[in-house]
Amino acid sequence: MPVTRHPLLATKHGASSIAVDSEAITRLEASLSVLRTRGERIADRFYQRLFATAPAMRQAFPADIAAQHRKFIDMLVAVVQLLRKPEEASQLLRETGSSHHKYGARPEHYALVGQLLLEAMALEFGDAWSEQLAQEWSQAIELVSSAMIEAGSAVHSAD
Ligand code: HEM
Repeated sequence: MPVTRHPLLATKHGASSIAVDSEAITRLEASLSVLRTRGERIADRFYQRLFATAPAMRQAFPADIAAQHRKFIDMLVAVVQLLRKPEEASQLLRETGSSHHKYGARPEHYALVGQLLLEAMALEFGDAWSEQLAQEWSQAIELVSSAMIEAGSAVHSAD
């Protein structure tokens, strides 16, 4: 299967080398059962590390962070389920990206979120994690981030 550039890719943010081919999507889909089962622990670990690394971010989130855990993991599941439906994925990411711009999310925050999310997943997936899955999830998170950043910058230019 040739490696193809995913249609969701935003070119403005240097993401043009990211490829998510059909076989990679199949492996990402297969990993969703672990993501769902371990989601609570992944999100807990992720937010703890995020607020330890960037304490100022805590105040942007609701006091009840438990509800946020589920929303965050559900969104990751939804995006992977939509990788074969780029138009729907793009719409979801546009909406979430523009709401995130209002929350104050900026490109440098996405880099930190992506890194800490991957670390939390690696630790919680345990034996279900592999170098290949790490790379594919990294690409998926990069896709999500670049589409959300793109939507956020569109909000900004419309200000
Ligand atoms: C991979 C990237 C990200 C994903 C998938 C993601 C996903 C989500 C989802 C699904 C929600 C709840 C629904 C919503 O309010 O839109 C949310 C809320 C939130 N996100 Fe993110 N997010 C990401 C990156 C970031 C970044 C980089 C920031 C940096 C500031 C951020 C800050 C927030 C805040 C403050 C809320 C809560 C807003 C509120 O309820 O008042 N997120 N995120």
